[in-house]
Amino acid sequence: MNVENNSPEMKGLSAEELKREIARLKKEKNAVILAHYYQTGDIQDIADYIGDSLALAQIAETLTADIIVLCGVHFMGETAKIICPEKKVLVPDLAAGCSLADSCDPEEFARFTADHPDHLVISYVNTSAAVKALTDIVVTSSNARKIVEALPADQKIIFGPDRNLGNYINSVTGRNMLLWNGACHVHEQFSVEKIIELKKQHPEAKVLVHPECKQPVVVLADKVGSTAALLDYARNSDASEFIVATESGILHEMKKGCPDKTFIPAPPNDSTCACNECNFMKLNTLEKLYKALLTEQPEIEVDPEVAAKAIRPIKKMLEMSK
Ligand code: 13P
Ligand code: SF4
Repeated sequence: MNVENNSPEMKGLSAEELKREIARLKKEKNAVILAHYYQTGDIQDIADYIGDSLALAQIAETLTADIIVLCGVHFMGETAKIICPEKKVLVPDLAAGCSLADSCDPEEFARFTADHPDHLVISYVNTSAAVKALTDIVVTSSNARKIVEALPADQKIIFGPDRNLGNYINSVTGRNMLLWNGACHVHEQFSVEKIIELKKQHPEAKVLVHPECKQPVVVLADKVGSTAALLDYARNSDASEFIVATESGILHEMKKGCPDKTFIPAPPNDSTCACNECNFMKLNTLEKLYKALLTEQPEIEVDPEVAAKAIRPIKKMLEMSK
């Protein structure tokens, strides 16, 4: 069914009506909603599961639903589709890409890995299925350290595409992985000077940093970790104030889980922009989620030959994360 935004089904539904319709369609179609912590609060609140990239992949593996609506970005939908090829996987807006995934062209990456045939290839989950198909082990920010540490000390490794996460893993493991030169446009723009300034105003505040940030920001951190790890730290810490250097969507779950604590978003270099928001993540809306469930579109498709290769490094990651 092709339903346009101005059709009777879409016209003028309030947020409450959209939520009711989403709940009804979910039941009718045996669908499950998975959301990443960078989604808008209204989507996180109605999701069946929210999580970081690793949790979303782990949950996808356990689902019996016929339809997964992955409220996140394209590579997250692709990962779910590769894990569950028999299910329909929808992403409310297929234009929800990722600058980090886009910084790694599969053909260039293939040449890079071919130039280093004695290296094991580790790819961050923020990659296209085609790059995963060229990979030995996929990792996320939750498990990259554990997986690298489990490998023999003399194992030569290529790590792509995030140079910042790669640098961080090199620094904590003492490895010398060969890094692909990619980055996330959101995490690269946090201002060291402004975080130091905030720290002076809030000396007791703990600094929470995602490892996609640049090294000068990472060294200011009390905790470096995935979105889920930063949330756990905030929940379990005795501190009452936190400076948060990652995408601002996570503040929703942080404030919800810790209503008595104060979360201060780390400022970007350019204070006139909302550049601590991932414009790709924010393409998904409640209305597009409703439309996706109603029309069962847009659907994630992965070339079966690519999927057959990409599933191996994803499975390897899931096994090594247990
Ligand atoms: P997490 O796996 O930590 O949730 O990160 C995903 C991501 O895209 C960070 O920018
Ligand atoms: Fe990709 Fe960066 Fe957005 Fe995460 S925040 S999805 S790495 S563009």
